[in-house]
Amino acid sequence: MKFLILNGSPKGEYSITLHTAMFLEKKFPGHEYEVLHVGKKIRAFEKDFSDAKKAIERAQAIIFAYPVYTFIATGQLHRFIELMKASGIDLSGKIATQITTSKHFYDITAHNYIQENCQDMGMRFVRGLSADMEDLTTEKGRLEAESYFKRLVFSIENSIFEPNRLMKSQNTLKKAEPSKNAEKTIGGRVAIVADLKEDDEILESMINRLQSRLPVASSVYNIRKINIMGGCLGCFRCAAGGKCVYTDGFDRFLREEIETADAIVYAFSISDHSMGARFKMFDDRRFCNGHRPVTEGTPIAFIVNGDVSCEPNLSMILEARSQVGGNALSGIADSASDVNAQIDAVADSIGFMIENHYTEPQNFYGVGGMKIFRDLIFQMRGLMRADHRYYKSHGKYDFPQKNRGTIIKMQLVGMLMNNKKIQAKMGNRLNEGMVAPYKKVLENLKESEESGGGTEGKR
Ligand SMILES: Cc1cc2nc3c(=O)[nH]c(=O)nc-3n(C[C@H](O)[C@H](O)[C@H](O)COP(=O)(O)O)c2cc1C
Repeated sequence: MKFLILNGSPKGEYSITLHTAMFLEKKFPGHEYEVLHVGKKIRAFEKDFSDAKKAIERAQAIIFAYPVYTFIATGQLHRFIELMKASGIDLSGKIATQITTSKHFYDITAHNYIQENCQDMGMRFVRGLSADMEDLTTEKGRLEAESYFKRLVFSIENSIFEPNRLMKSQNTLKKAEPSKNAEKTIGGRVAIVADLKEDDEILESMINRLQSRLPVASSVYNIRKINIMGGCLGCFRCAAGGKCVYTDGFDRFLREEIETADAIVYAFSISDHSMGARFKMFDDRRFCNGHRPVTEGTPIAFIVNGDVSCEPNLSMILEARSQVGGNALSGIADSASDVNAQIDAVADSIGFMIENHYTEPQNFYGVGGMKIFRDLIFQMRGLMRADHRYYKSHGKYDFPQKNRGTIIKMQLVGMLMNNKKIQAKMGNRLNEGMVAPYKKVLENLKESEESGGGTEGKR
């Protein structure tokens, strides 16, 4: 087989992910391999795509090899996919697969994104390899990489491909109607971070309606117009002090304009099953904040031109990023149905959340994501000093061994439960014991209400 490896890491030949691909090349020498450093050389491919086009045409199978960057692929690979689609190459029938390295933080959404785009281009997709960034250095990791490649060849030989993930929208995307200006009765400021192209009338109309309808002052930051010199280089120079190597002032902009807002709205048109390459570049550059949920407690919302109901992976990304950031989700309004009502609901919810300092518990996306970060930062605290300081001062190191009370209590309960005689006499006591602390909360509430207290208005 002729394999083309698209190396989406901005680190080029220093990419960890590429080393997994190179390992497989050495292990399976009976095939031909070619590498394109699309992450590092994206600027050159933007200027001239012809060499890439020829390489893609030569290949029988394409391996997308890239690091997972903020829930998806790198901004540079996003851009390359845009260029691939725009080039008009006929990829139908070609085989595609993927290799990633990461800490498994939302590797799943990254994999879905690549699969969706390959299937958009008519390629037949073989399930990929999602390796931990350390895996190649372990025996188990190397074995798994080899197994993946054997399965890849087996799948190709036996025509075993992934089912199509694509969903086609039946809805017509509609502009939002203008709304009369709501009085700005709530103090504060909403930052609307938008990827607004000049001809994107639908998104513009949605943003206009939102601004009119919001009961809070708002400002729009069009990321098309702000100076971003390039995508994240993955150099980790920001790890110690949070300062990016680029001198375009992006980190200052982020910290002074966006992260100080009382609510943040992200507005974009769905492009290639994501927020688009420009937004991805913006998101990747936010890595100067490391793994610190610096806007924790700030509500966020999404204004989307497109049909979100047909993009389950993107929906997951939107919810997950609000969850991991500790941001209550005020809503996702799209242009596919009831656009006016959806925007109004988002505007009203933002007002409510700001006024009431609304927060909510994290769900699986948030709790799971933060546990991966917690363990990662603890292990890498020597390098990721800014993250470590933040995690320590914000109580993010909530390792299980700290809950000593619960551990001892459970040991006692376990001992009792192990005793058959006690078990026989136990009746409903376990349930009673477990619910006792919750009962106490209700009793305390009753007492405080009887003595004229109450909870309302006590925040
Ligand atoms: C900007 C940036 C974003 C990242 N986002 C994620 C992420 O969302 N999930 C994850 O598990 N790892 C994430 N990582 C870690 C990389 O995926 C990991 O270090 C990878 O192995 C790097 O591979 P490479 O050397 O091929 O570039 C991120 C790293 C950087 C620099």
